Amino acid sequence: MRYGYFDDQAREYVTDRVDVPVSFTNYLGTQRMGAVVSHNAGGYCWLDSPQYHRITRFRPNGVPMDWPGHYVYLRDDADGDYWSLSWQPVGKPLDEAKYACRHGLSYSVYQCDYKGISASQTLFIPREDGGDDPVEVFDVRIKNTSDAVRRLSVYGYVEFSFHHIDMDNQNFQMSLYAAGSHYRNGAVLCELHYEENSWQFFAGDFEPDGFDGVRESFIGAYHTERDPEGVRKGALSSSTELGGNPCGALQKKLTLKPGEEARVLFYLGTGDDKAAQKTRQRYDKAGADRAFEQLRAWWDGKLGRMQVKTPHENMNRSLNIWNLYQSEINVLFSRFSSFIEVGGRTGLGYRDTAQDAMCIPHAEPEMCEKRLRQLLNGQTGMGYGLHLFDPAWFEKKAGQSFNSPTVVPTPDKAGMIHGLKDTCADDALWLVPAVIENVRESGDIGFFDQVIPFADEGEGTVWEHLKRSLDFSCRQVGAHGVTKGLRADWNDCLNLGGGESAMVAFLLVWALRHFLDAARFLGRLDDAAVYQKKMDDMIDVCRKVLWDGKWWLRGFTADGRAIGSQLAREGKVHMECNTWAVISGTATREQGLSCMNAVDEYLYTPFGLMLNAPSFTTVDDGIGFVSRVYPGVKENGAIFSHPNPWAWAAECVLGRGGRAMKFYNALLPENQNDQMEIRQAEPYSYCQFIMGKDHTAFGRARHPFMTGSSGWAYFAATRSMLGVRPEFDHLTVDPCIPAEWDGFEVKRMWRGAEYLISVRNPDHVEKGVRELRVDGRVADRVPAFDGGVHTVEAVMG
Ligand code: GLC
Repeated sequence: MRYGYFDDQAREYVTDRVDVPVSFTNYLGTQRMGAVVSHNAGGYCWLDSPQYHRITRFRPNGVPMDWPGHYVYLRDDADGDYWSLSWQPVGKPLDEAKYACRHGLSYSVYQCDYKGISASQTLFIPREDGGDDPVEVFDVRIKNTSDAVRRLSVYGYVEFSFHHIDMDNQNFQMSLYAAGSHYRNGAVLCELHYEENSWQFFAGDFEPDGFDGVRESFIGAYHTERDPEGVRKGALSSSTELGGNPCGALQKKLTLKPGEEARVLFYLGTGDDKAAQKTRQRYDKAGADRAFEQLRAWWDGKLGRMQVKTPHENMNRSLNIWNLYQSEINVLFSRFSSFIEVGGRTGLGYRDTAQDAMCIPHAEPEMCEKRLRQLLNGQTGMGYGLHLFDPAWFEKKAGQSFNSPTVVPTPDKAGMIHGLKDTCADDALWLVPAVIENVRESGDIGFFDQVIPFADEGEGTVWEHLKRSLDFSCRQVGAHGVTKGLRADWNDCLNLGGGESAMVAFLLVWALRHFLDAARFLGRLDDAAVYQKKMDDMIDVCRKVLWDGKWWLRGFTADGRAIGSQLAREGKVHMECNTWAVISGTATREQGLSCMNAVDEYLYTPFGLMLNAPSFTTVDDGIGFVSRVYPGVKENGAIFSHPNPWAWAAECVLGRGGRAMKFYNALLPENQNDQMEIRQAEPYSYCQFIMGKDHTAFGRARHPFMTGSSGWAYFAATRSMLGVRPEFDHLTVDPCIPAEWDGFEVKRMWRGAEYLISVRNPDHVEKGVRELRVDGRVADRVPAFDGGVHTVEAVMG
């Protein structure tokens, strides 16, 4: 069963059956202001930080789910009947009112047809030139499709938040007196009195017929957003108060003749009534149209950096629209703003951010580079990364402006630099390929010589930072000579009691390979010699102690027990070690074929590859927290999405394009649009995990949007499967595809030039290019051109 469909022309997912059992999510905003909204207009928005500067309030994990939101109500003033333009919160019977939600790229449209009134509400946050007066626009259109003259009231409504998430959830003896509401020049204003110059406004492009600034006055003590007093009665109460719970509610009365249409704009912004006035001028009807077009054009530009045309419709849809969009949102907003991560954390997860920034530098160069700088700054002089940190700690203007009589400790730098005890062994290793992939994309080799401070003390060039992270891992080895997992490796729950991790060893080899490629290109041959030796040594150790005959061990516990061996009853085969042995080039071809066969045999399901199997059922803290997680859930035998693309990449190393596609297809969200009774999650974004075979809800996906699966899916699909990879001085075209494909096309921008790549597969092979032509001439590689449009024809065979 399905709840909606893809409208590729508009680049939208249309939910036309809105009683979805979960929220289908979207994100608004591309700069400082962001919002997460559901297909029912539930959600919240923030400025810069969802933890410290929440603009609208959210009641997480509640019933009804994902309330409140950014709502618009309509009321028929002739008979008092009222409804909302999103199905919730009023929730009119679906056989009487027709609803749909269109999630587009950084905007959402809520459509409703009811009682001869056809209306829509578009939410979006324009891109600001200076980025200094962000605003969310509610663009409302109402058409009278009946034969009678209609008298209507339209209401916009938001509930303001006390900015700081803790203020919203505790100590109301203080917070309820910290914020107040005002009404000036047609705008409802919310003021955080303890913060300097901290105002929000809710305004319209009209002279309001009524307003409320106090939540209880609009909603009523014994009502909810489903039946607010102000809408029910048809009149707002002009409430404002210094204290209480501020809200923004505005009413506009309209009379529409048959066939007549009206357009009403609401604005939710930061600043006082003067800012509201400016916003009204800037985003009047023509201005709002212009801003919306600019937003679309901005996305056109991004998506246009790479477009693919393969025989696989859902792959095209994913790579050309949704997978890239999801990856962008992760880079833009990090991970701490969703319906799952409800804003109680701020900052960057080291490994997650590094991987996000590695995967899409072609589409998001500035933001990826910004993230890398922040990460480089979050690296300690010893070489490890701060697992979770706030870049603001290291910025000159550190410290939040938030001024509260409740004691909020001032961050003390010394206390923020955690030691080895809390170090995750993989964190800073991801930095190496991430930086190098970004330079391969941009060609800016000067980046390696830029000087960036370490988190604790001192500074070094980016090159020095990379060496410190490699050196750190090379030093942190255990009794078998394999790298330690420390607090955890990529897998938060498989802690091995601090033992040795195959995943980290292979990741180190991969990072070293990237580093060696860069060192040789830059002519830093002394470094190349030193690190080549380190890599060879680590590969030797791994081959000696980690190969278990058919597949690779996952590691050793602190007391020396092998994990992931053929002898094991639980956790026999693991994804991380087997995929990375191949990707890193540690596995021989025979070992690679054998271990990836084991991945297929033990871990494959029609919904993707499970992280490990069989799931752990016996608590064993020597292995880690994973043994305390329900079987089939999250890191214990679920289909953890993030490592799935590692298997696609590994199969491409082995040249098995059919197998890579089998794995790709199993996880691809777009493939599951018709199986919503099983998936129960949006079909346009990868989810963090899907319940594994050992769980009763096998196939149910959870935690959409904010997950590293997205970047990796894009990275593996474009670079390994379609095989288009920027190198320092040329573009590799090395596809690994299903034999039945006749070929495919890719249009890719790279360093200011456009490459029109067409791949033909007349012999129906899975890998190998037997002939390459650049601009019509036979060539052995695709050079980095300075500009212009260039054709690349590759014939497989
Ligand atoms: C979560 C974390 C990520 C970790 C993964 C596996 O997605 O955000 O850092 O690698 O779980 O444990």
